[in-house]
Amino acid sequence: MATFSEQLTQRLATALADLGHENAQQKSLPSVTAAADTRFGDYQTNAAMAMAKPLGLNPRELASQIIEKMDVSGLCETPEIAGPGFINFRICAQAIAARINNLTGDERLGIKTALSPKRLLIDFSSPNVAKPMHIGHIRSTIIGDCLARTARFLGHEVIADNHIGDWGTPMGQVLYGWKNHLNEADFADNPIRELLRLYQLVKQQSDTDPAIAAQCLEETVQLQSGNPENLSLWKEFIEITMSGAEDIYRRLNIHFDTTLGESFYDPHLKPLVEKLLKEGIAEESDGAICIFSNNELEPKQDPLLVQRDGEWLPAPCMVRKKDGGFNYATTDIATIDYRVNEQKADEILYVVDDRQSLHFRQLFEVARRRKISTSLRHVAFGKILGDDRKPFKTREGTVPALGDVLNEAVDRARRIVDEKNSSLPEEEKQEIAEKIGIGAVKYAELSQARSSDYVFSWEKMLALQGNTAPYMINAYVRTRSIFRKLETTPQYSLENIVISEEAERIIAMKLCQYAEVVPQVLVDYRPNLLATYLYELAQNFHSFYEQCPVLSASEPARCTRIALCDTASKVLRHGLSLLGICPPERM
Ligand code: ARG
Repeated sequence: MATFSEQLTQRLATALADLGHENAQQKSLPSVTAAADTRFGDYQTNAAMAMAKPLGLNPRELASQIIEKMDVSGLCETPEIAGPGFINFRICAQAIAARINNLTGDERLGIKTALSPKRLLIDFSSPNVAKPMHIGHIRSTIIGDCLARTARFLGHEVIADNHIGDWGTPMGQVLYGWKNHLNEADFADNPIRELLRLYQLVKQQSDTDPAIAAQCLEETVQLQSGNPENLSLWKEFIEITMSGAEDIYRRLNIHFDTTLGESFYDPHLKPLVEKLLKEGIAEESDGAICIFSNNELEPKQDPLLVQRDGEWLPAPCMVRKKDGGFNYATTDIATIDYRVNEQKADEILYVVDDRQSLHFRQLFEVARRRKISTSLRHVAFGKILGDDRKPFKTREGTVPALGDVLNEAVDRARRIVDEKNSSLPEEEKQEIAEKIGIGAVKYAELSQARSSDYVFSWEKMLALQGNTAPYMINAYVRTRSIFRKLETTPQYSLENIVISEEAERIIAMKLCQYAEVVPQVLVDYRPNLLATYLYELAQNFHSFYEQCPVLSASEPARCTRIALCDTASKVLRHGLSLLGICPPERM
């Protein structure tokens, strides 16, 4: 079942071929897309404007030729020209009804699997050992999971990889802290909190005191060369960190296919650096081993150069320190080799905050120099801010722990449930509150354009009105309540679906477009496109529901409206599930 956009694009291509213009098409087939402003039509194309110039024609003239030739029978009304040469299309009621009828029987809700499925490795969440996951990790975890769910549904093979930070300098700092500053009682009480304290304390000390820095380095060297005491402590640190992280993943319903920490790649680092030296990609510089620009790129594009006082200076990527230790970058280069050669990834996504963008640009440049053709992409995101527009903090001024944020969200959602439906059994109320609270945190994240910073607001996140999880869940719950009142399973057929009211048409068109939206999420890795779609659908549903009685209507309106409610219900549930949100059946 082709979408309206695909059908129109196809018919447009045929018309252009009939006009003898198929070769005038630019790089790709001109497409027909959903109209931004639906007052003038449902779909729109700028094909005439894009093609007129090379053909030496006036765009409006070409548009009218296209309209003349284009066969739109059974699909839309006579197209119209607007402005400098846009063509607008309004889908006819029968075509909408036919597609709704198809959707009622389609588990995939009209969404086809990708024509060329890929093996996609998504590196996300990736917390660090000895540090509890904080709210900064929320963006990576939730965006990465949504992309994994969407890609899987579209037929790609996904490897969800939690690339734990479990190696390098910070490990030596925690080991040193453990051996010199451990508070046993605090550790017994809250192990991860005590590990974090030790790490922060020692990091500060070693930043200012070279003697302590040297001792930390020695601890790292001992760990990396297999000292049994360090190794067993390190394993304990990992276990403590991961058991906290896993509690959170369980609550968020997030799964990984592999959890290979940075340490996994350690055996590859030494030979990798030797290879880079032999290949002439890396060179010695002041005792360290670095990769410098080879000046193949424009300086502006070259992440191995930096501009200072109008001059381009080297900004090398270091792969081995003077003291022989390896860097974050070295591990990431080795990780690419493993992902490409062993895991056979066609594409690797790094869902990591934008403060690391230079690191990834350098990493990808090194990959290009090494002739790695696998597509590498930094799916970057901004910061979460507090009301004061500074990075979000707790009242005590510390970075909020993710677990605490989830607890508070659920407590607040519980108050909504108590207000709305106080008669429900206690256990169900708690279950609903958990779903709404977690859903609200996820939705607040996914409804944002990922590249910008956003302000974290409890009030906004849990509001029953607006672009929020509770609003969406409320729409879903409404659709479910209709079906609880229905005695028989509805039977739909093409004859008894008749779209006549404007509110019916609006929601029906929205439902037909679900299949156009989901694949868009992967084009530029933007979950907010799906969130925005669901928000508009929920709005369309609420106004449809207010204007069009369902169960008391006479046929064929009754059957039509039941079909619309049914499809809206399925699309809402499915769309939310791609966002990783599981709505309750009532609230
Ligand atoms: N552990 C790192 C951090 O918390 C993120 C790792 C991202 N992935 C990677 N392959 N570098 O900053």
